[in-house]
Amino acid sequence: MKLTVIGCGYLGATHAACMAELGHDVLGVDTDADKVARLKVGDTPFFEPGLSDVLRRNLSAGRLQFTTDVREAAAFASVHFLGVGTPQQRRGYGVDLGYVEAAVDALTPLLRGDHLVIGKSTVPVGTAAALAQRMAVLTAPGSRIELAWSPEFLREGFAVEDTLEPDRLVLGTDPDTAESTAEQIVTEIYCDILSTGVPFIRTDWATAELVKVSANAFLATKISFINAVSEICEAVGADVSTLADAIGHDKRIGRRFLNAGLGFGGGCLPKDIRGFIARADEVGATQSLRFLREVDAINTRRRTAMVDLVAHACGGDVLGANIAVLGAAFKPESDDVRDSPALNVAGQLALRGASVTVFDPKASQNSQRMYPMLAYATSAAEACEQADAVVVATEWAEFVHMAPEEISDVVRGRVIIDGRRCLDPQTWRDAGWRYHAIGGPMRATAVPQQSPQRSRPTSSQVTGDIASRT
Ligand code: UDX
Repeated sequence: MKLTVIGCGYLGATHAACMAELGHDVLGVDTDADKVARLKVGDTPFFEPGLSDVLRRNLSAGRLQFTTDVREAAAFASVHFLGVGTPQQRRGYGVDLGYVEAAVDALTPLLRGDHLVIGKSTVPVGTAAALAQRMAVLTAPGSRIELAWSPEFLREGFAVEDTLEPDRLVLGTDPDTAESTAEQIVTEIYCDILSTGVPFIRTDWATAELVKVSANAFLATKISFINAVSEICEAVGADVSTLADAIGHDKRIGRRFLNAGLGFGGGCLPKDIRGFIARADEVGATQSLRFLREVDAINTRRRTAMVDLVAHACGGDVLGANIAVLGAAFKPESDDVRDSPALNVAGQLALRGASVTVFDPKASQNSQRMYPMLAYATSAAEACEQADAVVVATEWAEFVHMAPEEISDVVRGRVIIDGRRCLDPQTWRDAGWRYHAIGGPMRATAVPQQSPQRSRPTSSQVTGDIASRT
């Protein structure tokens, strides 16, 4: 089948490549000429494991093309996916629908005959209904354009896998039309995926839109729940990681998304819960999502708690201290630094007077653009040179598996602060390091040994310091 994908950012580029991988003839469209030039040679403007291979394979097979010209899209196919960005508004919690509206405005008047437009972007409930009205005004006489909404649930780092092996497909159509062709067309597009038994949920526009933001709100709530519990664990000296394992064994709860630490960031979860809150206000249901404000607040205060813990580990203050921050991306296997807890912590430490050196295996360039005031290293060992404390802020495998010996001789103080509860405390203690974890002690390990480093004050205010508790 011939398809176009309008918008070739993270979602759109992945979707275009994966639709070609399913055997379709795909034209990706984006207004950014640089992005299109890179995609045409199979180069992704962002880091995503495996995506370049899929792009290159399908470019060489001739199933995948890219253009900046939306007129080509209108002539190329009669099915068009919308995958443009929906960022948070500059002011307030609402969602900026400018890119979606611009895409619809550009494409609709050019379409002749029967077309199906399938929205994939994450949008506030009610968007599809409003866009359909907008499109009706712009539709050329004699043409018929149907709008459907099929949200995408892909995770950065697993974008290809999530697109080709989704947990479910959701399709929302106009509840007031009896003439929808969307289900039949979408069934054809995804027939290889559906043949594996993937659940296919057909519903109305509003439900489809809400499925996506509800899923993200639930995930964010789960993370903030465990982080809230970790605050209690910090207060009483309990181990939130063991607690998460124990409650996670309950099949109704499940262990995933119960990793306490620095909390969630990225281009989706924070923005989506805020957009959901804003939409609830607009539809007169403010009270219903009031708890999401707390979910957001819990998440944000983990970052400050982490900065306090670093200060405590440095003797009460970071002023003048050299701090190595390992990790800048909002999560491993990504170079995305949007709303990154790691960079936020690095920035806060710098504001408190520390000399901060950041290393990230993939996100250094993006970080430099966003936080040019920080220093950047080209390796973990380089970042740790003369450091008084080392902060692990993103759980990249290379940090999780780093042996203390790799940096023990270059640092000035053997102090490590684990912002993702991803290290083995005993390994670090055995190597003479003072180990601290956000979210309370890590009980799975033995009693910490005496630190050879300079003495630390015991602050009952600052939490997560195992050494100060023993
Ligand atoms: C998310 C949703 O998972 C995905 O379905 C949706 O389409 C887009 O938003 P993504 O933003 O790529 O995907 O990242 P995700 O893997 O969900 O992680 C989000 C954040 O939560 C990261 O900062 C991660 O470090 C954090 N997180 C995740 C935790 O703090 N604890 C956990 O247990 C899990």
